[in-house]
Parts: sequence; C-alpha cells; structure tokens
Amino acid sequence: MNSQQWLSYYQNNRNHRPEPKWNLPSSLDDRTQHFLAHSLSHFQLGETGEGKFLLAQARAHLPDDVCYYETLRLFIAEEQEHARLLERLVFRFGGKTIQRHWTHSLFRLVRHALGFKFEIQLFVIAELVGTAYYRLLQARTRDSVLEEACALILKDEAQHVDFHADWFGDFQSRLLPLERAGWSAQFQILFGAATQVAWMDHKAGLAISGANRQEFFHEARHECIRFLQRLERNANQNVCEISPQTARP
Ligand SMILES: [Fe+2]
Ligand SMILES: [Fe+2]
Repeated sequence: MNSQQWLSYYQNNRNHRPEPKWNLPSSLDDRTQHFLAHSLSHFQLGETGEGKFLLAQARAHLPDDVCYYETLRLFIAEEQEHARLLERLVFRFGGKTIQRHWTHSLFRLVRHALGFKFEIQLFVIAELVGTAYYRLLQARTRDSVLEEACALILKDEAQHVDFHADWFGDFQSRLLPLERAGWSAQFQILFGAATQVAWMDHKAGLAISGANRQEFFHEARHECIRFLQRLERNANQNVCEISPQTARP
C-alpha cells in the first residue's frame, strides 16, 4: 500500500469541504423527522470516538510505519467530522444525540477484544453497511440538507473503504489461497450479521424514508462485493510485485 499517497489524500480532503445549508427549512412531516432523528443518532454515536485504542494498536503493531499511523489519525478525524454532520442532522430533525446504545457497546467490545486487524475489519464492515444506509437516505428522503450531508459522508466513505482494501491487500498478499478463503469467509459471515443488526436497528428510519429491507441488503451486498474485489485485486498485484525479487536474490 502506498501510505504516502493515502496521507496526501487525507491531508487534501480536509480542505474545501462544502457545508450543507443547515438553515434551509425541512418539508418532512414531524413523524418522519422523529424517526430519522432517532435512527441518525445511533449512526452519530458510531462515528464519534477519538480512536485512542486503534492508534495505540497501530503504534504497537506497526511501529516503523509512521506514515500509516498519521494516515489513520486523519481517517479518524474524518469520522469525527461525520459525527459532527450527523449531530447537526439529529438536531435539525428535533432529536437528541445519545451517549450509549447496545449496538455501539457490542461493536466496541468485540473490536477491542480481538486485535488490530480485527478492529480495522470491523471498521470496514461498519462503513459498508453505513454506505448502504446513507445512500438509501440520500435517494429516498426529500430533504436537501440531508441529501447534502449524505453526499459528503458517502464521498469520504468510498475512499475509506478503498484505503482499508489497500491495507488488507498488503496483508492478504502474504497468505496462502486457503488462508485467504478462510479470512474472506469469516469477513462475509460478520458482514451478514452486522447488516442484519443494522436493519433491525434502522428499519423504522429507512422504512419511513421509503426504503425496504431488500433494497438495504442489496446496497450493502453490492458494497461488500466491491470491497472484496478491490482487496483481491490489490493482493494479487502485490504478489506480482514481490515475486520477481524473491525469485532472483
Ligand atoms: Fe464515517
Ligand atoms: Fe468511514
């Protein structure tokens, strides 16, 4: 993975970020706004966090890769920016942000328990599911401010997923085909479980926006397939780049 390229991307992406026109009135009825605020507050909680555990893990596991560490720090800062946008949306729709929720507690518990790679993996899964959610809200909800905020978040999330796919591509290039298949299988099982939990948690908000379960799963699966394809492409590319050197010392 080219950490320097990703670092430049994150540094540049902090600039010239358009701000949604928060003062525009919403034409959504009170009931829709209530369900949206409730649903968005859960995603807002998920996007908060200073990433202290993740950064400490990165420093411990990859002490020489200063560039990747700095890139991760900027990645976390972007997630915090998403939390800010979501907070504004929650307030726009008359809701309140929350400090805890069982899905968030479960997510934190699992990602802290099983090490650095596993934590990054869970971030990716959350981003794939989140992308499906924001895309459906953007497409179905007739609120221009919500659409603008979703567009900003979706643009970043697409890059976040590619960033992690590049990193996992490096890791997978060192695995045997059977090990790769095992990793991919457990990833897809966790992805399936996370999509199910997200649907249970957000079906009211999505349904009132006009989206159904089939569409949500379709979008999420599409994102997952795209991630796995990019990861495989990167892993194969890395193998091709490494092999000639090792063949001729
Ligand atoms: Fe995010
Ligand atoms: Fe993200």
